[in-house]
This record gives sequence, structure tokens and C-alpha cells, in this order.
Amino acid sequence: MSPRDVTLTPTIANRRTFAIISHPDAGKTTLTEKLLLFGGAIQAAGAVKARGEQRRARSDWMKVERERGISVASSVMTYAFEGRTFNLLDTPGHEDFSEDTYRTLTAVDSAVMVIDAAKGIEAQTRKLFEVCRLRDVPIATFVNKMDREARDPFDLLDEIEQTLALDVTPASWPIGSGQGFLGCYDLLRDQLVLMDRKSRSELPAEGERCAGIDDPKLDRLLPGHAVATLREQVEMARGLCPPFDLQSYREGHLTPVFFGSAINSFGVRELLQGLAEFAPGPRPQPAQARDVDPGEGAVSGFVFKVQANMDPKHRDRIAFVRLASGHFRRGMKLKHVRSGKQLTMHNPVLFLAQDRELAQEAWAGDILGIPNHGSLRIGDALTEGEDIVFRGIPSFAPELLQRARPDDPMKAKHLGRALEQLAEEGAARVFKPRMDANWIVGVVGPLQFEVLADRIRTEYGIPVRFEPTALYTARWIEGSAADLKTFADGNQSALADDHDGSPVFLARNAWHLQNAEETAPELKFLKTKG
Ligand code: G4P
Repeated sequence: MSPRDVTLTPTIANRRTFAIISHPDAGKTTLTEKLLLFGGAIQAAGAVKARGEQRRARSDWMKVERERGISVASSVMTYAFEGRTFNLLDTPGHEDFSEDTYRTLTAVDSAVMVIDAAKGIEAQTRKLFEVCRLRDVPIATFVNKMDREARDPFDLLDEIEQTLALDVTPASWPIGSGQGFLGCYDLLRDQLVLMDRKSRSELPAEGERCAGIDDPKLDRLLPGHAVATLREQVEMARGLCPPFDLQSYREGHLTPVFFGSAINSFGVRELLQGLAEFAPGPRPQPAQARDVDPGEGAVSGFVFKVQANMDPKHRDRIAFVRLASGHFRRGMKLKHVRSGKQLTMHNPVLFLAQDRELAQEAWAGDILGIPNHGSLRIGDALTEGEDIVFRGIPSFAPELLQRARPDDPMKAKHLGRALEQLAEEGAARVFKPRMDANWIVGVVGPLQFEVLADRIRTEYGIPVRFEPTALYTARWIEGSAADLKTFADGNQSALADDHDGSPVFLARNAWHLQNAEETAPELKFLKTKG
């Protein structure tokens, strides 16, 4: 080990790169804002929303987002708390954009699951949880909206345990709920934290240290019935739930559950303290041949997301890169493994909550934005020379296929180019049928068509319609050149090429696909492109 490795380790170990997963409306935006408030990254609550409004006002294509009240674009927010550097990766909440969300989850080391106290586990929470589980991502749970009528805490814990097959342990215990919600007893630090309903957007006072749940101080600070219920419930919870176990949490088997009310800034400090103390630092990243350890001296990273620049006048993209190892410095040269080219990192950006800032340096675990003109694609690796191929970045089979038709037929070529660019960005799959002049676009959620149409109109100046097709699904075909040719000769009308020129079979129905697989067993029909 070089001396640099030794000095880097604490800097890297202090990084907490995480995402919030939740069902729409559970309170992710509100919690994000409060996390930033505690991290000193914003001065006043409301800034996250205000920033969103500004951005929306600036770019026309976000109209769809404004209309739907959803966040299409993801971003990264970096802030500090108690000596740790937090990188919070935002994920779009709407299920149509889950593809993007899934990819973002490959770049985090842990997640916070936000649950609405009245609703419990909802469909989207569950889906996202499953993705985290696939990668053994540790999850802390935040039960939000305790200031409203909430379900019984035992009931909620039981539901998490049963539906997600996860051990649960309360990190704090709620005292009452709804109108009668007074605060929480912090079981990890033994302190009483009371909620002040009057100062929603200010940092609430620190909790009151106690010697345990039987501390007589509690009798002075809480109404009699509340103390009695608290003691009784905590005793029951301790009997029913396993104690907090760091290893079990970090392996993704156990979730500590925090109760709170994001809108009242309540429970947020305890959650952050929990993450600072227990959430894992940067994890090794799986790659072909070997895992890449964050402590390795050489810089490496992978692209997990590509976003078109917000400014419609520029065709620039930003590739979001998760640094897997090393100490990155601005101006350094990195090898783009797919093309073999050296790229000089002239203008990398770090995402310091309010604004993008030019990054001078960054470490394993951090997220960098690298401006480029389309050379960086999802899954690409950047290294100091080694040919690393990172694994585990999911690609999804397009389930909905529509035909893209420009209003002005003279614009067909331009439309094709726009679609190819959007495909490179990962916004959709595009297929050029061999026997038809119109492109077929494949997505996983129907709202993606609207967003695409809007972007093509505003960013490329091409009014476009998406029309239904009778197509059932698309499969990438792999095999020897000779086998591919034989198959293609007999199936021209069902063949297309994607933006990279890879052959794709467009099936009209399940039988059509099955028949093709049976008649050409030497070929592979793949749901996703490797
Ligand atoms: P999301 O990003 O997960 O979709 O949720 P978001 O934070 O936007 O919150 C959804 C709604 O829930 C918002 O109300 C928000 O104010 C409210 N909310 C969030 N946390 C709490 C909480 O702790 N207690 C209560 N009572 N409400 C909470 P809205 O009416 O949809 O929007 P707004 O007009 O308040 O902005």
C-alpha cells in the first residue's frame, strides 16, 4: 500500500452516498429539504421547491413535469453533517421513471425508505425496496407524517417485517400520534425529543438526555398517561424486535425504523445521526474479473446516468459518474474504457446542493458530473488505465412500443438523429425497422412518451406524434454473423436495428416470439442489451 492509500482512507470512509426511496407523496421532497437544512446546505425550507420552480420556469420541456407535478430530472446534493460528507442522490418518484431510479440505486451505498405513517408500505416503495435488496443495499426507514392520524406503530413494524421479509428494530419510539403526537424517545441515544409545532422550518432543539426509559425525568417532561404508554410500548417492542445490530443492518437484513414528521423538521436529526454513525461508507463495486475497492489508489468510476443539459440551446450532456476508487483531481486524464480514448477532465462538476460547482477533487463514493457531447454512456467505465468493466447496472426490456412520426415528413431524418441521441442518453430504446421508414420507440412507462415528444419538440424543434403499434415486445438477437443473416433473411419484416446498429427482433405477440426462438435455437433473444 502506498502512503497515499493510508491517508485517503478516513476521507473516503466518511462519505455517505445514499438515496431516498418512497411512494409518491410519502414526503421524499420534504425530507430531502430538511436533510439539506440540517446539513447547512440551504438556509430556509422551501429552497428545494423554489429551485425546482426556477428550473421549470427556465426550460420549456419540463412542462410535462410541471403539469404532472412530478420530478423528471434527478440530481445529486452534497452536504456535510457531523464531520461526514453526504451525497444524496435524488430519484424521480413517478413509476414511469423507475428505470432511471433503478440505475441511480446502483450508485449508492445505502438508502432511506420513507413511509407515510397512515399508509404503510405502498406499491412503489416495495418495488424500489426489491431493487435495493438485489444489491444488499442497507436501508434505514423513516416513518413520516406522525403529526397526522397514523397507524399503530406495532402494526407498521409488523407490516415492514412481513411484506419486505426484513428484520425491523425501532430506532426511536413515537409518543402519541396525530394531534396528540408529542415527539419520540430516541432508543439509540436514550434521549427524549419533543416536537415543537410552531417552528416548522427551524432546526429543532436537541433532545433531553435520559438514563433510560425508566428515568424519572420523563415523568416530569411528559403527561402521565403518555409516559405510561411509552414505557409499556417500548418494553413490548424490545421484547418483539431484535436489538439493533450493525452488521445485520449493513448486510441489508435489518432496518432501523425512525419515526418523525418531515414537515415539522422532526426526527430528521436523529435520522441523520443514525446515517452518520451506522450507514456504510463507500462499498466495493462489482466488476468483471474482480471487485474494485474504494481504497485503491487508482481512480475509477462508472456512468450510471446521462442527462441532457437543461439548456435547450446546447446539446451537451452530463454523465453522472460514481467514483468507485481513488482520489480524483480536476484536469487528470482518464481512460474511457469502451473507446480506449484518454479524456481530460477539464470541467467536472460536483453537486453542492444549491448549485453545480467545478470540482477540484473528489474521492471514492462521490458523484461527479462530466459534461460531454454524447461519448459517455450508461455503464461506461473511466479509469487510470485498467480495462475495468463494472457489473450490475440494470437495463430494462422496453415493454411499450410506439411508432414515432414527425408532423412534417421532411423532418424524418432529423427525428432519427434526435431519437438516436435520446437513446444514447438512456431516455428510451429506439429501433429502426428494416422494412419501414418510421422509428419504433420502446419505453417502460407510458408517461415517457409524453416527455420524449415534448423534448423532441422543444430541444430539436421537431413536432412529433407517437402512435400505437401492434408490437408486443423487442428482443436483441445475438449469434454468429452467418446465423444472424439466415434468420434475418427469413424475418425481414420483424427486424430492426437499435441506435448502435445491433439487430433487434420485434415480436407481434408471444407466439411470434416463441416461434422465432424455436426456429432459431442457435440465436439468443435477449430482453436487455448487455
Ligand atoms: P414526495 O416527494 O414523496 O412526493 O412528497 P412531498 O414531500 O412532496 O410531500 C407530499 C405531501 O405531504 C405534501 O403536501 C407535504 O407537505 C406533505 N408532508 C410531507 N411531510 C409531512 C409531514 O411530516 N406531515 C404532514 N402532515 N404532511 C407532510 P401537499 O399538500 O401535497 O403539498 P404542499 O402544498 O404542502 O407543498
